[in-house]
Amino acid sequence: MLNLRLQHIVKMIQPCDVLIDIGSDHGFLPIHLLKNRIIQRAVICDINAQPLQSAIKNTRIAQVEDRCTFVQSNGLRNHQEAVDAAVIAGMGYETIAQIIEQDLKHFRVIDQIILQSNTHLDKLRAFLLTHKFKIIDESLVKDRKHFYVIIKVRYQEELLEFDESDLWIGPVLKHRKDDLMFQYLMQLHRTETKVIKGQKKESSKKIQVIQTYLDIIQTS
Ligand SMILES: C[S@@+](CC[C@H](N)C(=O)[O-])C[C@H]1O[C@@H](n2cnc3c(N)ncnc32)[C@H](O)[C@@H]1O
Repeated sequence: MLNLRLQHIVKMIQPCDVLIDIGSDHGFLPIHLLKNRIIQRAVICDINAQPLQSAIKNTRIAQVEDRCTFVQSNGLRNHQEAVDAAVIAGMGYETIAQIIEQDLKHFRVIDQIILQSNTHLDKLRAFLLTHKFKIIDESLVKDRKHFYVIIKVRYQEELLEFDESDLWIGPVLKHRKDDLMFQYLMQLHRTETKVIKGQKKESSKKIQVIQTYLDIIQTS
């Protein structure tokens, strides 16, 4: 059984032929996608040999090994064949941005790119939008005490317009008005309050933006 975070990643993937899971580790995500016929074939990629061995073992147990290709690679460096979808999840912003930037040409032609960063979501969104990756969907999940945001993007030719609320809250998430979103905004508010206290400041633009969206939910 996949954890809640991986279950939400699955929900963002449209059925397709080939998906690459970059930094797959145990291979649980592609195994689930293959077993449920959401994808036909998987490229299981990891920079380290040991996680890849564990993915190979798990795909054998799940009897989906014949539909998998295993690649030891830093992102797409050692895998230049076309894929329909790519997932990069469970890593920090710097690693995700580096993986995309070093193979921009290849990421530009992938139909579905699903990203889940453990750090600096605002920097990730700024990186994506300035590189013309349009944020087409965002999902929010709380697993135990942790919030996770999953971002789906696709490259488009035109330069994209965005403001601070798109970076700090998210162009899709900022329209959500449910209880989970309220809890998430409260957590962002608490974190930012700690930051400005440390800097001995009265307030910040970020806190004002978060408060605006908290007020919208409370009055809706
Ligand atoms: C924390 S695990 C995440 C596993 C899975 N994607 C998930 O979300 O549960 C991160 C994995 O990414 C791999 N990794 C780190 N940097 C990478 C890179 N540049 N290219 C490919 N894999 C990488 C690590 O070896 C590790 O197995």
